[in-house]
Amino acid sequence: MMSSIDRLSAYLKKELIIGGKTIKNRLTLAPMAGLGHIALRELISEFKGFGLLFTGMCSAKAVPHENSSISPVFRWRQTELPYLVCQIFGSEPESMILAAQRIEKEGFFGVDLNFGCSVAAICKKGSGAALLKTPQLACDIVKSVKASVSIPVFAKFRTGWKNDPSFAVKMASLFEESGADALTFHPRVAPDRRSRPPIWDHIAQVQNAVSIPVFGNGNLFEPSDGLKMLEQTQCQGLSIGRMAVAKPWLFAQWTENLIPEKDIYRYTALRMIHLLAKHYEEIYAVKMFKKFAPYFCANFKFGHNILKKMIYGDTLVDLKQNVEMIFQDQPEILQRPNLNLFS
Ligand SMILES: Cc1cc2nc3c(=O)[nH]c(=O)nc-3n(C[C@H](O)[C@H](O)[C@H](O)COP(=O)(O)O)c2cc1C
Repeated sequence: MMSSIDRLSAYLKKELIIGGKTIKNRLTLAPMAGLGHIALRELISEFKGFGLLFTGMCSAKAVPHENSSISPVFRWRQTELPYLVCQIFGSEPESMILAAQRIEKEGFFGVDLNFGCSVAAICKKGSGAALLKTPQLACDIVKSVKASVSIPVFAKFRTGWKNDPSFAVKMASLFEESGADALTFHPRVAPDRRSRPPIWDHIAQVQNAVSIPVFGNGNLFEPSDGLKMLEQTQCQGLSIGRMAVAKPWLFAQWTENLIPEKDIYRYTALRMIHLLAKHYEEIYAVKMFKKFAPYFCANFKFGHNILKKMIYGDTLVDLKQNVEMIFQDQPEILQRPNLNLFS
């Protein structure tokens, strides 16, 4: 009998066609502002095992004239473009079109439209999940972007503003009719920011309503979760957020059966510092490491204490010394991460 990781990997390694383009693997990195930056993506790319990576959300108004060597967010390595999707947020079809056209011109795999973010600063301007209150406008955005580019168009959304899966099902169909090539669905109500568990059954209802692929998202922590979501919901792929920050080798583990060695933790922390230093100025690199660290420290027993030690100081040299010191004590690794450290 196949082990659960073999079953998971067999499923994930099936090709999938999205908007006429084929991906070899159905495991993707979810968009995460402040976490899914160029350095994390380079680290994940080194470990391999994923189908697509997504950038954190970029402002559609800024993207057309953004200087990618200055912007910390709208920044990429040329070699990742064939598997990188750029996510944009905005509230008007015109600005979303211009941003998507720049994204196509730069050579990204696709563009992802954000209908899921429920942070007040984004929703106040009518972007993100606020667009689920105006389904017509949300669909106009999808339609106009689809008509303006030939790369795949993704839409990421959540249940809506009421706990009513029939709304999500309706939105999924409308997005498909408007031309979306794939959906990422996060089954939580806005503005719940991960305080209650996502309702996976709603993913099943959404996938059942459309013929385009749906990537299920929310609380995937271990291979058994991945298998369960696929079997329970019949979704076509998985989208991993926070756990990919805690374990950037997760993609290789789930699809290539990579067995992480104990030293992978020390290696990952040091490599993250190195890659942040490669791509960013020191102050920003230190800031990004401090955002990464809570998720990473969730891997350890007494993670809160380890976190305090790991982020002490203001320079990259401080951070490197912290990591070396922490791993001299051989911290105990938890089977399931301490989710209190995830936000
Ligand atoms: C720090 C942080 C930033 C996020 N930024 C974005 C974003 O820019 N765009 C987006 O669509 N979702 C964003 N999300 C939501 C994730 O894509 C994902 O839906 C959520 O974390 C649930 O998946 P998970 O349980 O695998 O982490 C963010 C989540 C976190 C924790």
